[in-house]
Order: sequence, then C-alpha cells, then structure tokens
Amino acid sequence: MKGVIMACLSQLVQEKFGDQKWEEIMQRCGMDPRKRFIATEDVEDQKALDMLGKTCDVLGISMEQAADAFGDYWVNEYAPKIYGIYYKNVNSARDFLTKMDDVHVKSTKTLENARPPRFEYQWKDDNTLIMTYKSSRGLIDVCVGLVKGVGKYFGEDLKITKLSNDKIEVVFPAQSR
Ligand code: HEM
Repeated sequence: MKGVIMACLSQLVQEKFGDQKWEEIMQRCGMDPRKRFIATEDVEDQKALDMLGKTCDVLGISMEQAADAFGDYWVNEYAPKIYGIYYKNVNSARDFLTKMDDVHVKSTKTLENARPPRFEYQWKDDNTLIMTYKSSRGLIDVCVGLVKGVGKYFGEDLKITKLSNDKIEVVFPAQSR
C-alpha cells in the first residue's frame, strides 16, 4: 500500500488524538515512532493492516469506527489538499463516486508498485448504485467509511449498506442528479 494512506492515518491520529497515541501505535507495530511516511513509498500490505489494527487497539475503537474516522478525514480534509484536481467540477456524491475507478487509476499511474483498488458500477434503479470493490486487501469497511465521507462532503443524506465483502449499495437522494 502506498505511504500516502499511512501519512493520512498518522496526521488524523496526531491531530485528533494526540502525538503520544501515534507514537504508541508505531511502537506496537515495531516501527520508529519518529518515522515520517512519504506518499510515494511502499508499505507492505501486512504492515499497513497491522497499523490499522493497532490504531483500533490504542484508541479503543472498533474497526468500523476507525474506518469511518479515516474515511471522513481522507475525503473531507486530507485529499482536498493534495488531490484537489479530482474535486474540481464535481458537484454531487453521485458524480464523485462514479469517477472513483478512474481517479484510482489516474492518481496512481505514475506511482511505481501501486496497486489501487478498482470499482465496478451497477445501477439498480435511478438512485441506487451498487459499487463492487475490487482489491485483495479486503478493506470493505474502509470503503464504507470513505463513501460516508463523500456523503458528508456533498451534504447529501446517502443510505449506505454493506451488502457483502465486495459490494456496497448507495441510495442517493432523488433530487441529486
Ligand atoms: C479524491 C479522492 C481519492 C483519491 C485521490 C484516492 C486515491 C487513493 C490512493 C492513491 C490509494 C493508494 C493505492 C495503492 O496503495 O496502490 C487509495 C487507496 C484506497 N482507496 Fe482511494 N482515493 C480517493 C477516494 C476514495 C473513495 C471515495 C473510496 C471509496 C469508495 C476509496 C477507496 C480506497 C480504498 C479502500 C483504498 C485502500 C487500498 C485497497 O483497499 O486496496 N478511495 N486511494
């Protein structure tokens, strides 16, 4: 997984929970607490998942809560600053989410060793989207947290349901087309 994900997690934990908590997470993962993650570096998937797990342990929160916190922070605070281009001319959660497959391909095109998640889209009816998440990393809960963050960003009341380990149903408000 690319270091940008860890850099975002560390910023979130430090900002919302304090530097000490982040140091403890790093120590429990057997890593140097002063290490700074660089966006383009590679972090082994196992290590990245371990960091997420240790974040839950140290903060005393569930994986779902951690995923929601990460999704909110990534979509609403972190990504707008470094990936602002993907927010331009996008005016609804519907537009943003249906561009995500493309965005993951484009944002990692020049990154060596990147293995971004891919998405497939299927419309159940005019306002109901089934997103299929394609990744070996099994981070469907993080995906749900990110989709919730997108709803918040566009001020839309989305109904989000995890259907399985690779499918999420999103119901958009009828007028958001
Ligand atoms: C502007 C918005 C976004 C950008 C630029 C972006 C970019 C990225 C990048 C660069 C990675 C690391 C890929 C790698 O290590 O190879 C990543 C991972 C990920 N992204 Fe996004 N992302 C965005 C929004 C979203 C949204 C809205 C979702 C959910 C629908 C999502 C789902 C994920 C997941 C679950 C991962 C973890 C890796 C995996 O599961 O395989 N992202 N994203």
